[in-house]
Amino acid sequence: MGLRLKFNLILALCFIIGLIASSAVFYQVSKENALEQLHAQIGVLRAQALAVRRYTSEEVRPLLSDMSDVQFLPQTVPSFSAQTAFSNFRDHFPDFYYKEAVLNPTNPSDLASDWEKELIDQLRDNTSLKEVVKVRDGKDGPQYTVAFPLQIKAESCLSCHSTPDRAPASMVALYGDKNGFGWQLDEIVGAQIFSVPLKVAEEQTWQNLKLLIGSMSAIFLVLLILINVLLRWMVVSPVIKMAHIAEQVSMGDSSQPEYEHPGSDEIASLSQSFNRMRRSLDNAMKMLES
Ligand code: HEC
Repeated sequence: MGLRLKFNLILALCFIIGLIASSAVFYQVSKENALEQLHAQIGVLRAQALAVRRYTSEEVRPLLSDMSDVQFLPQTVPSFSAQTAFSNFRDHFPDFYYKEAVLNPTNPSDLASDWEKELIDQLRDNTSLKEVVKVRDGKDGPQYTVAFPLQIKAESCLSCHSTPDRAPASMVALYGDKNGFGWQLDEIVGAQIFSVPLKVAEEQTWQNLKLLIGSMSAIFLVLLILINVLLRWMVVSPVIKMAHIAEQVSMGDSSQPEYEHPGSDEIASLSQSFNRMRRSLDNAMKMLES
């Protein structure tokens, strides 16, 4: 096996091992980054939902509270406005999901589904949790999901959510007296649940990985060509020439010219030593002949 082939094989092996190791580390790091980005996106969505909630209770409800005595207006309920605003937002981003899922909701459409109940139970079992994260299977692939506890912190909430006789008559007329009552102060009644599709993050991660592998391979290829050219020019060619001369001389052909490799590297000093040895050999031969 030639010197260059050995070099190339060793370099290729080192490159493949290095590429596999660095791709694995890169994949892990970029996946974590992508998940952090999704988490930050959900933070923005939640802040938006809380802002709509606050706008409704501070700006809308005071203006319409008198009308609610005659006819209950869901538009004055923060939960209703936040979820309605989000469903409008979904016209632009249909993959995003938001629900104020509750175990015993006023509006049946807010009833927690099975997977939502699991998240709510986790939050109820451990009330110190600020959020629960889960990757769940959606109909269009995995969804990165975060649930935040919905806790009853104000006594004012209980005026509509404790017993039907405390709630406005117009509200009971609209929603009935069966659901959305019996909530306790400090109780976690449900969760604000947000989901964003994981596929965007995964696609981004693969895209970055392909870019890394492509660029590293291109750099390796250029280096390999460069090393091969240099190796041939600086080592392999001079050694072949010297080997050829040595072979001719060993067979008695003293007409071969001396080979002088320019420079001061190891090959140059080898060529000088080789020439010196050849001259000594020639002298010895001449002395033997005379
Ligand atoms: C004026 C009565 C009223 C008050 C006060 C009130 N709510 Fe509600 N709440 C409702 C109604 C009505 C709905 C159902 C809205 C709909 O149709 O989506 C609702 C819905 C909700 C929901 C969504 C789940 C469900 O029951 O459908 C949550 C969560 C909620 N309220 C929490 C609160 C909290 C927390 C407070 C106190 C800060 C509060 N509510 C105060 C009337 C009220």
